[in-house]
Amino acid sequence: MTRTVRPMILVLLAVAAVGAVAALAVSTSAPTSAPAMTLPPPATTGHMSLEEALATRRSVRHFQSTPLTPKQIGQLCWAAQGVTEPKRGLRTAPSAMAKYPLELYVVTAEGARHYVPAAHALEPCQGSDLRATLGRQRTVAEAPAVFVFTAVPSRMGGRFPQRTQRWIDLEVGHAAQNLLLQAVALGLGAVPVGGYEEAAVAQALQLPEGQQVCYLVPVGTPAGSGP
Ligand SMILES: Cc1cc2nc3c(=O)[nH]c(=O)nc-3n(C[C@H](O)[C@H](O)[C@H](O)COP(=O)(O)O)c2cc1C
Repeated sequence: MTRTVRPMILVLLAVAAVGAVAALAVSTSAPTSAPAMTLPPPATTGHMSLEEALATRRSVRHFQSTPLTPKQIGQLCWAAQGVTEPKRGLRTAPSAMAKYPLELYVVTAEGARHYVPAAHALEPCQGSDLRATLGRQRTVAEAPAVFVFTAVPSRMGGRFPQRTQRWIDLEVGHAAQNLLLQAVALGLGAVPVGGYEEAAVAQALQLPEGQQVCYLVPVGTPAGSGP
């Protein structure tokens, strides 16, 4: 190996290492040492018709304190962003050019986790209860689970820059509506929250640069329902 080639290889290795660390930082917020949680397989049939879910959906802002089960959380994540065609990675919600710019986080009393659609799993991000730091609305602080949609605009590519934001906004509407209707079908209540402080949510979840907050959906068992 010549004297000029060896330093060049070292520089390339260093650049690759920095790139790998940066790529990890872009994929999710700050990791903790807790293990990833594989979610129970989602149900693809249910007891409530789509028409009934549409007819009975109402925004619910008061919840019982009962935590959601892993099965419920998994079903809600799947409804929002689950993979339904593994070969091409297509999901429950449509996506412009199938670029899938959305990310989904689940914030509970136990901490924050990031949904990985391909594995139908939750990877831990933060180990503490962040709900009260996500915004000033009581519903967000008191819901057993807050689903946070974010987006990575750069994933849309540079082909249609003037349409990127519109397409992200439309896509998060599709995904959030899936989640809202799935909540109804599970006997749960939910409300879409657009009145959040973007910087506060980004800070709480330690979102990487270039990831934007799109929508919050607090979910729980409606207060006053059940036995
Ligand atoms: C884009 C958007 C943002 C919203 N933001 C909030 C919010 O910040 N807080 C809240 O309590 N409800 C919020 N809502 C829920 C609306 O208040 C609710 O959908 C509306 O009152 C109609 O009631 P329904 O959902 O029961 O049909 C939002 C709804 C949409 C579509």
